[in-house]
Amino acid sequence: MKPFDLTGRLVLAPMAGFTDSPFRRIARRHGAALVYTELVSAEGIARGNRKTHELMRFLPEERPIAIQLFGKEAGVMAEAARRVEQLGPDVIDINMGCCAPRVCSGGSGAGLLQDPALAGQIAAAVTGAVGIPVSVKIRIGWDESTRNYRELVPRLEDAGVSLIAVHGRTRAQKYTGSADWDAIALIAAASKLPVIGNGDIHSYGDAIARLETSGCAAVMIGRAAIGNPWIFSGLRPSVANLAEEVRSHLRLMREFYGEPGIVLMRKHLARYFHGFRNAARLRAALVRSISFDEAIGLVGRFENGEFDGQEG
Ligand SMILES: Cc1cc2nc3c(=O)[nH]c(=O)nc-3n(C[C@H](O)[C@H](O)[C@H](O)COP(=O)(O)O)c2cc1C
Repeated sequence: MKPFDLTGRLVLAPMAGFTDSPFRRIARRHGAALVYTELVSAEGIARGNRKTHELMRFLPEERPIAIQLFGKEAGVMAEAARRVEQLGPDVIDINMGCCAPRVCSGGSGAGLLQDPALAGQIAAAVTGAVGIPVSVKIRIGWDESTRNYRELVPRLEDAGVSLIAVHGRTRAQKYTGSADWDAIALIAAASKLPVIGNGDIHSYGDAIARLETSGCAAVMIGRAAIGNPWIFSGLRPSVANLAEEVRSHLRLMREFYGEPGIVLMRKHLARYFHGFRNAARLRAALVRSISFDEAIGLVGRFENGEFDGQEG
């Protein structure tokens, strides 16, 4: 097992379609101790697929960064991990939690929870293939009747994994119900490895409370970080801070993707202005913006108070 030292206790969760290079840089600036790419297909990497490769592009200021792989064949995962190591990430993460049918019905992602022996073999193949630390992100089980983390986690430990992140739901729950932090705490207490707890952290205060009560080395924040990177610092942005941050995000997106990136930015824009009274008209305009300049103009008008008091 290669040790991996976390430099902080709040990390950004991998989220397909959201945690791209610009958003990871923003999360790091606000204090996220570790960021992840979205899940990347090991088969796509082994085939040399260009789009797959694009998902793994990162800049030095994103470090420490984990590149997350999904797959179900130990040989393919090991080959993909060898190639990924050449890109220089700090960690290679194995996805054992994705509940999307295209991933888990084929046996990858959360599908591996159904076969702890295979999960262990895959983890061992990956740790054996690379010199950098390997982490795994799991759910607590496949469904309510197979919450098999007591069987799975020791296999991952024996495979030489350095870090385990646990989303406290079963695959069957998808995102319904609530994360079981009692189960996460049991895993943290029983495991020799640092455990990152995950699920339903809505605020900085929630994060600190979960750290205190779960015994986890760190906690991982997903949905609540979208449009609110301040969740990693506990600071509250002023209107000017918010406008400046959104402009900065827009600039990073334009640099990284070029003009077509505005389409990917729309879902972030809606979330940045989520909690604001009177912002419905602004949000509606932002999610339809067709250029970065248009969005930047709208943010400026927001900052000047133009959207105040125009609707409830
Ligand atoms: C839009 C979206 C995309 C996600 N993509 C991934 C992914 O690529 N890999 C992964 O391990 N988990 C993925 N997840 C799960 C999150 O990492 C996290 O486990 C889950 O959202 C629970 O944490 P939260 O309550 O803080 O959001 C995704 C979740 C969402 C909402």
